[in-house]
Amino acid sequence: QGCKLVGCGSALPSLQITNEDLSKVVDTSDEWIYARTGIRKRRVLSGEESLTTIAGEAAKKALEMAKVHPDDIDLILMCTSTPDDLFGSAPQIQQQLGCTKNPWCYDITAACSGFVSGLLSAACHIRGGGFQNVLVIGADALSRYVDWTDRGTCILFGDAAGAVVVQACNIEEDGLFGFDVHSDGSGVRHLNAGIKVDESNNAFDSNGSLRGFPPKKSSYSCIQMKGKEVFRFAVRCVPQTIESALEKAGLPVSSIDWLLLHQANQRIIDAAATRLEIPSEKVISNLADYGNTSAASIPLALDEAVRSGMVKPGQTIAAAGFGAGLTWGSAIVRW
Ligand code: ACO
Repeated sequence: QGCKLVGCGSALPSLQITNEDLSKVVDTSDEWIYARTGIRKRRVLSGEESLTTIAGEAAKKALEMAKVHPDDIDLILMCTSTPDDLFGSAPQIQQQLGCTKNPWCYDITAACSGFVSGLLSAACHIRGGGFQNVLVIGADALSRYVDWTDRGTCILFGDAAGAVVVQACNIEEDGLFGFDVHSDGSGVRHLNAGIKVDESNNAFDSNGSLRGFPPKKSSYSCIQMKGKEVFRFAVRCVPQTIESALEKAGLPVSSIDWLLLHQANQRIIDAAATRLEIPSEKVISNLADYGNTSAASIPLALDEAVRSGMVKPGQTIAAAGFGAGLTWGSAIVRW
């Protein structure tokens, strides 16, 4: 059983925040942010906008391109670390799309590696589970968890949603192969947005008594990141995972038409491309306009590249995600 991508879509919040805007909130400048990251602006959710709304929009566009009716989807995977509902967002997308046959759906939490995890899960469900049409959405709203007084992190992130439809096909047409995925929990100290595991966040104290009345609500911390450590990790692990994925696919680096990395920092993207000896003309980047949109960055950049005619049918893309966990992984994809 093969599987291939048959459609993509993306959606963005309406509010745009430029580096100039940020320099009025924290001590920073457009020059510093652009030189260190390659980012000029980002979109963030505002007013009544929700993650589910933009994720649903992205999904609708992907289904339209794929010419797949909502009732023909048999699985929805919502890759997000910032769901509108702690119990999961995927069923809300299903409802928004108007799927009347109650397809299975669930969320995948793997931060900036979420979309690659979603692609791998879709491929496994199709190859081993008999699924036909799997909708994979990457969507995040990290603006909700950013400390807007911390200039080391608040300049990096934006909100967005992207989606693809993965469809079962003959093995000869297979377009999703060569997965390579990893995680290293010891790296959580470098990047996290955790809940403090102590009495202050548990409803009951160690004697079994309910603490206070009304009991205190638990809360997640803002994003805590040691930027230099994450930078080093990414520059080391991303080329390695792409090389491993290519080896598993039995393809040389020269067979890659496009390198599509999680959009975190232009310097990470450039360093990985240099290490892999992939020329800059083959590197997809839209970081300047949207910043780091976590699980959304790969499908958002793919959608823009496909709709602008940059990525053409039959071309091979090496995609890699990396981030909190720490997690990292790649997939070789034929568009
Ligand atoms: N504006 C101006 N100055 C700043 C800013 C800012 N926004 N932020 C930090 N600085 C200052 C620092 O205070 C420091 O000053 P000092 O030398 O006087 O102490 C100086 O600039 C250098 O700071 P560094 O943190 O060392 O800068 P660095 O070159 O490492 O760049 C950055 C920081 C951009 C965060 C970089 O480390 C990076 O991109 N790391 C990777 C982050 C990433 O990719 N995360 C992906 C995963 S996200 C996820 O999974 C959710």
